Formats: sequence, structure tokens, C-alpha cells
Amino acid sequence: MDIWHVRGGNRLFGSCRVQGSKNASLPLLAASMVFPARSVIRNVPRLRDVDAAVAILSHLGCRVEAEEGELYIDARSVTGAEIPHALMAEMRSSVIFMGALLARCGEARLSLPGGCQLGKRPIDLHLSALRAMGAEISQEGSNIFCRAAKLHGAEIELRFPSVGATENAMLAACAAEGRTTIRGAAREPEIVSLQQYLASLGVHITGAGGDTIVICGASPRESTDFTVPSDRIVASTLACACAAAGGRIILTGADPEHFLTVLHFLNEAGCDIIHFNDIVEISSNGELHAPKRIVTAPYPGFPTDAQPILMAALLRAQGTTHITETIFENRFRQVSELRRLGTDIRVEGTEARLRGVKELHGETLTAPDLRGGAAMIVAGLTARGETRVIDAGHITRGYESFDDRLCALGAEVWIEHKGKGTYENAIEQDQSAAGKQARRV
Ligand code: UD1
Repeated sequence: MDIWHVRGGNRLFGSCRVQGSKNASLPLLAASMVFPARSVIRNVPRLRDVDAAVAILSHLGCRVEAEEGELYIDARSVTGAEIPHALMAEMRSSVIFMGALLARCGEARLSLPGGCQLGKRPIDLHLSALRAMGAEISQEGSNIFCRAAKLHGAEIELRFPSVGATENAMLAACAAEGRTTIRGAAREPEIVSLQQYLASLGVHITGAGGDTIVICGASPRESTDFTVPSDRIVASTLACACAAAGGRIILTGADPEHFLTVLHFLNEAGCDIIHFNDIVEISSNGELHAPKRIVTAPYPGFPTDAQPILMAALLRAQGTTHITETIFENRFRQVSELRRLGTDIRVEGTEARLRGVKELHGETLTAPDLRGGAAMIVAGLTARGETRVIDAGHITRGYESFDDRLCALGAEVWIEHKGKGTYENAIEQDQSAAGKQARRV
């Protein structure tokens, strides 16, 4: 359990290098075991979710060494096709190992994945894509058994451009005989980097970034060396932090093309944005005004992951902001907590209406999920006094040294780490003391 302390009111100045992308790294780690090859993967962020993926690889028999943001993975020996529930439950991306295991071992035994509770998050599209390639899949409770003596190429049509289903289909297709076409594929930058990585291992694959991906087998190579692209949601978060708090920051190692929609809304809200190659400069006087309606959509639309964070940046913006969430049913979980800072937000179904207020005041909030937690830190930067965010480890699943990075830009943020159970113990002690008192009365 972590308690993040944020003392609001400081403007942000300086430059910050954007970390490697979590959502690009995780499918690459699953992909690293598709062939008996060695991979060097660079610019991997140090995050809990990455640790979870490494633990899965190690459990399956791969050798993984980590050094200064680089992972050395030797997947020449894979000794099992089963992922225990405790490892699956750590994160959402563990489900991508299904396609990787099917490709490598012809079977996969695992359970439903964990991750942020953003809605129902079914995996029907993953399963139907794998079935189309010849996999037999059965489910008992939360356990999933997949088997395919031989995978074959298929025509796959996704009814929604699911990122995870596209990744799973791409990985399984690496071992399929013949040609696999994935239509209606997700177009996110993470899909493009997965294609580049697979191509560097000898997979004949084209089309990522568009809505049709074609995979025609592989001429496997023994090794590859690949660099993870920068994290567009972390870049968006830092940009939103500066927009809300005011100041001028320079993001380096960023890919502005990957978060143009976020930059567009910040610009509309009154920030000055300049970008050139991998550098993005954001300047804000901290006095924002509400942009026109924000609607989340699959890439290249406005990313759902940035929605809670941009909302947090606009809490004090003059006027009314309307936000429509189209991807996840449960993506406004930050709202009830943000209200405690003195905000005026109303949610009806998929619509949120946010009326900017003059001032926010620090409060103790609870992070509901990864991006919701980051949103609370951003809000805290603009609130009067201290905001405390109680977080069961969500934020460190996606942000590397977030406190240090914000402090280096001039923010006052620090984390109080409570040992496993300590926080719960403290609450229990409080409750039992209260109980004793109650009995005394
Ligand atoms: C990925 C990202 C997550 C991001 C999301 C949408 C990772 C690790 N996570 O999640 O941060 O918020 O993309 O950009 O990369 N759906 C189905 N059936 C399926 C699969 C998905 O109905 O089989 C629905 C989901 O419930 C959701 C929508 O499709 O409503 C988008 O999900 P998807 O693109 O699959 O998201 P993830 O891959 O889980």
C-alpha cells in the first residue's frame, strides 16, 4: 500500500524524458517466447506489470536477465504451457500469452486475466480469433484450456478493434500454416511495434497501423535487438500535469504523433504546444478553458487511458467540458473521488459533464485503478493544500519513478510506502480501538 502525498500550487518547469511504453513492452515480452530465439529488448520501463510478464516468462522456462532498462530474454527452452492463476491475476496483458503459448507449444492452460476493473472486459474476440485458426478452447470457471495440434491461416474479422485480441491473433498466426488476415484490427502504435518486433524475428507480417494485418508464416531468426517506443499515456499525463499546474516543460524521447489528440485538446484549452521530432514543449499559464466535447475512440481517436487524466487537468478550466466514454463501461471511477476535491462533475451513463471550479482543496482520495490514480496526482498538483492518494499499487503498474519525475519538474510529491499489511493493520488497530471504546461506553 502506498500513500502519495501531493502538495499543490507549484508550477512545473524543466525537461523530462518519457519512459518506454508499458503497453508496447508487455506484448513484446509475450512475443519473445513464440520462437526459440534470444531477444534484447531495450527501453523497457521498470514497472510492476513488466515484472509480472518476466515472472510468467521465467515460469515457462525462459531465461530473463534485466539490466538498466534492458531485458535479455533467452526463449530457446520453454518447459511448460501452464500459467498459474496467481501470475495471470497480476495484470490484463497476461492474456496475450495465450496466443504466444499456442504458437510455441500447441497448447495453453491459463485463467482469466487480472488488470484494472474498467468494465466487463470479455475475451470473446480473442477466443474466436484463435478458434478461427484451429484452436480448440474450453473454459471451466475461470480456467481456460486451449489446444491446437496445428494452427492454420484464417480470415479473421474483429467486430471491434480490440488491442488485446489483435495482439493474440498476431502471435498465434506466427505459427499458423498459410496466410492469416486480421480485418478490423486495432491500429494503436503498440500494434505497430509488435509487428516490427515480429518482423525482426523473421515473421512475414504487414499492415499494422491500418485495419488489415496479414501474416504469412515466418523464417525464424536466432536473435533480435529491439527498442520499445515511448509511452504515449505517460507523455499525455506529464503534458496534462503541466497544463493544469501551469509552467513550461519539455518532453524528450516522445513521439508526438502518438498523442496528437491529447495535445490537440490541451491546445484548445489554452496551452501552447510546440513539437519537433521527439521533443514536445508544453507551456501553460494554469488558466485553462473548457475544450469542445471530448470523445474517446480507438486509435487514432482520443485514448480512453488519457480520459481520466485530461478530466483531472480540466477541473478548474473555465466553462463546461463534456466527455463521452465509448470504450469501457466503467471508466469514470475517478469521478466520485475527484468530487471530494470540490469539483462539479455529473455522470450519466457514458457522459460526464464537468463544470470548472475556481479552486480545489486537498483531500484524501483512493486510487480506483491505474489511470484514475494518475488523474488524482494531476488534480492534486492544482489543489490548495495537500492531497493524499491511497493506492494499492495501481500507479506503479504504469508509471516509473513518477514521484521523482514530478519533483524534478518542481512539484512536491512524495510516497509513503506502507509495508504489506501495515496499512490494513493500522486500520484494523483503529477499528479495534474504536470497538474497545464503544464497548467501554
Ligand atoms: C488495451 C490497453 C488498455 C487500453 C485499451 C483500449 C494494454 C495492456 N491495455 O486494453 O490500456 O485502455 O487497450 O485502448 O495494452 N472487448 C470485447 N471483447 C474482447 C476484447 C475486448 O468486447 O474479446 C471490448 C472491451 O470490453 C472494451 C473494448 O473492447 O470495451 C476495448 O478493449 P481492448 O481494446 O481489447 O482493450 P485491452 O486490450 O484490454
